[in-house]
Formats: sequence, structure tokens, C-alpha cells
Amino acid sequence: MFSKKEFDNVVNERFSCRSFKPERITTEELNYVLEVGRLAPTAKNKQPERIIVVENEGLLERLKEATPCTFDAKTVLIVCYDKNECWIRSTDAKYHGEIDATIVATHLMLAATAINLGTTFVCAFNNEILKNVLDLPTNIEPVCMLPIGYPKEIKAHNTRLDLEDIVIYK
Ligand SMILES: Cc1cc2nc3c(=O)[nH]c(=O)nc-3n(C[C@H](O)[C@H](O)[C@H](O)COP(=O)(O)O)c2cc1C
Repeated sequence: MFSKKEFDNVVNERFSCRSFKPERITTEELNYVLEVGRLAPTAKNKQPERIIVVENEGLLERLKEATPCTFDAKTVLIVCYDKNECWIRSTDAKYHGEIDATIVATHLMLAATAINLGTTFVCAFNNEILKNVLDLPTNIEPVCMLPIGYPKEIKAHNTRLDLEDIVIYK
């Protein structure tokens, strides 16, 4: 069993890291993060997430055409979903791939924190440019980017609203 304290540490210590040391994370660290992402729940267990790992220098540079938010990380994950594979709710035809990919990305962020890596959930990108740069087929839809690396400095996460501001009892 894991302890509550260990869980609390990971949740409390995660922060949006936007500045990285120049070294690339190891393959072992990358694989740990990806493996935790693999265990995320998805609607009807359809697992439509597709995670693109960019470590190639030229491609990392080209990602900057799509976003100002790679923060010069040497590893950038682009979390996508396959529109042909995700669960579609029959009552209103809502595609759930974006929700699935977001939950996967949350696993990835917390896994990174657990092994002292830094990352940020990035949505500020030009989707069309990103799809072009990555040469994505039309069924693969990017949801977020996660630049990952060793934090240059450890920061606190942003402040949050109080529970009474976000929880509604009825
Ligand atoms: C859906 C979403 C999109 C975000 N997009 C960006 C982004 O494009 N660039 C960025 O620097 N941070 C981005 N963030 C990070 C948030 O700004 C950050 O999580 C928030 O300010 C709270 O700070 P914390 O993560 O340190 O607690 C995004 C976060 C979420 C959840």
C-alpha cells in the first residue's frame, strides 16, 4: 500500500514548470511516465490516447512554430486521441477522446512529479500548425503538450479557490 503522505506530496509538489535544465530526461524516466499514463482510465476502456514523443532536435525547434510554450524542454509529449477509437455517447453524440486524453495527461504530470521531473499542461498552440509539423493524419487530434525535463528551480503551484467556492452541496 502507498501512504497518504506520499500521495499528498506528489499532489502538493506538482507545479507548472516552465524552465528546465539543459539535460534530457533518461529513457527510464520517460518510460516510467508513459507507463503511468498507460494505466489511466478511459471511457469504456477504449484507450484512444496517442502520445507523440518529440526528442529530435529539429522537430523540437519546429514545435516552436506552433507554440511559445515548449520552454526549451528536450522532451515534449503531445497527448492526442484517435477520433476513430474514442467512445461516443449515444444520447448526444459527445466524443470523449478529449476527456480521456486529459486524464492521461494528468497521470503523466503526476508521474513526472513523483520522480522529480517538471512539466506543464500546455494548450496554447496553433492546432493546424502543430498537426502539419507532426504530419498527423486527420483522425489524430492533439489535446495538450507536456514539455518535460529537470526543473531549473522548484516552485510552489499557484493558489487555489477555497472549497466553498467550488463545491456545491444540494
Ligand atoms: C487546460 C490547461 C491549459 C493550460 N495551458 C497552458 C499553456 O498553454 N501555457 C502555460 O504556460 N501553462 C498552461 N497551463 C498551466 C496553468 O496555467 C496552470 O496549471 C495554472 O496556472 C495553475 O498553476 P499550477 O499548475 O502551478 O498549480 C494550462 C493548464 C491547463 C489545465
